[in-house]
Amino acid sequence: MNQEGIIETMVELAGRANVLADANDMAPHLIDWRKRHTGVAACVVFARSVEQVSKILAWCNGAGVKVFPQGGNTSVCGGSVPDKSGNSIMLNLAKMNRIEEVNARNNSMTVEAGCILADLQDAAFAADRLFPLTLGAEGSCQIGGNLATNAGGTNVVRFGNTRDLVLGLEVVLPDGRVWNGLRTLRKNNSGYDLKNLFVGAEGTLGIITRASLKLFPKPRAMATAMLGLDTVEAAVSEGLKLQAAFPGELVGLELISQSEFDISLRHGTNMRNPFAKTPKWMVLVELAAATGGSEALADRLTDSLQPSFEDALITDAVIASNEQQRADLWRIRHHVTEANGAEGMGLTHDIAVPTYRIPDFVERAGAALAEHYPQAVPVIVGHMGDGNLHYIAMFTHEYWRAVEDKSGVQLKLSHLLYDIAADMGGTFSAEHGIGALHVPEMSVYKDATEIDMMRQIKAIFDPRDTMNPGRVVPGASA
Ligand code: FAD
Ligand code: LAC
Ligand code: ZN
Repeated sequence: MNQEGIIETMVELAGRANVLADANDMAPHLIDWRKRHTGVAACVVFARSVEQVSKILAWCNGAGVKVFPQGGNTSVCGGSVPDKSGNSIMLNLAKMNRIEEVNARNNSMTVEAGCILADLQDAAFAADRLFPLTLGAEGSCQIGGNLATNAGGTNVVRFGNTRDLVLGLEVVLPDGRVWNGLRTLRKNNSGYDLKNLFVGAEGTLGIITRASLKLFPKPRAMATAMLGLDTVEAAVSEGLKLQAAFPGELVGLELISQSEFDISLRHGTNMRNPFAKTPKWMVLVELAAATGGSEALADRLTDSLQPSFEDALITDAVIASNEQQRADLWRIRHHVTEANGAEGMGLTHDIAVPTYRIPDFVERAGAALAEHYPQAVPVIVGHMGDGNLHYIAMFTHEYWRAVEDKSGVQLKLSHLLYDIAADMGGTFSAEHGIGALHVPEMSVYKDATEIDMMRQIKAIFDPRDTMNPGRVVPGASA
């Protein structure tokens, strides 16, 4: 099928106003958020209903036209842009953005996949409830993308990953069949739990069109603090103490290195360093409680930190005393990805190890970097409570421009770090997914039987390899 034929059919199925085929109009959809991956497509199609998605997939599947689903295009592993083949469509869900029901009595909401995450948080709040998924890209990522990548973020330590927040899904299969699994039950052991196949499948098995999600009581009290510590050992040990001291109330436990903190402040606007002297390591702690006041919660937090202050394990701390100060602390944290892009060429790694092994990982990774890539500055930020570090090897733009074999360096450096994580029972991809970037790692770090099972699942749902070809499952192409 040639490009004209594809465009003509898409206009027929979705309407002219919902199809972009002009190169300039398509451009923002064909390059990723960090401007590192580009692709080509015959057109970008904005579906407006599940019926349209169904017809589009059925036609593409029959005609051999590949489909690349796109949400908010905030993927950091090249998962949200098409490949370079060109005779494909990019199917964007942005226009399917209705919040269909917020049910406070059932603590659930049912929404279309194109809803922006921040809008769902607001809708839950308006109903006196909490939708706890939160991450730096929440102003533009879509719930469909969050589900497809099983996104993590900064509240996982209390509420789990996106997978843990799902009650039911509606999915359009590659052949156009619609599976209505939109339940809002807490229990349902009636056969295979199919929704969990689609969560984290990164659009390789079908398009998620609607979801029923869990809501929680809106917190009445919040306490947020940024701790300063001299060593990563002290940071992790303090984190583990806080996890034990505030079960159910600890909702965020983030680690930030001095290098990352400085970068975030350097490239941010209206950001203020809350410390007189930036500590070597920082831990951002957040507690939330369903009852009591914020002051009382902050007092309990302060009391629990006191012994570590006295032992000089914590060297400095700032406790937010109002919502503005809380937001300011989180802004420093959430700004890191954008700031890293402005700072230089950061090779980002999304590893996880058991939390108590983080200091070990940091030490071994630092030594490997110093030995093989002394030009790189280690920049570290991560969801410490989940054992998930974004370990960034930061090169200056100038140095990186002169590197001849960029992908060779990227691969070798990454594998140095992934080998260390693997040695600790860790993973090379904790929360960002595989996308196009990490497919080679799948064959290196995943068990052959596991890959085989994935290929078999892909072949059942998508035997013609219509959906997101070349992504996630190595060698799945039909
Ligand atoms: P996209 O990037 O558009 O797509 C992601 C993948 O999902 C692609 O494979 C796409 O094909 C597929 N997809 C999208 N929609 C659908 C659908 N409806 N059905 C089927 N497949 C679909 N990630 C984290 O886990 N934790 C973080 O803390 C975090 N912080 C971030 C901060 C910043 C500043 C940025 C830029 C990114 C961050 N990310 C984080 C990565 C990213 O935001 C998340 O992975 C997010 O869930 C992607 O959502 P999206 O709507 O942008 O999806
Ligand atoms: C974060 C993204 C990069 O944690 O996952 O900021
Ligand atoms: Zn993250």
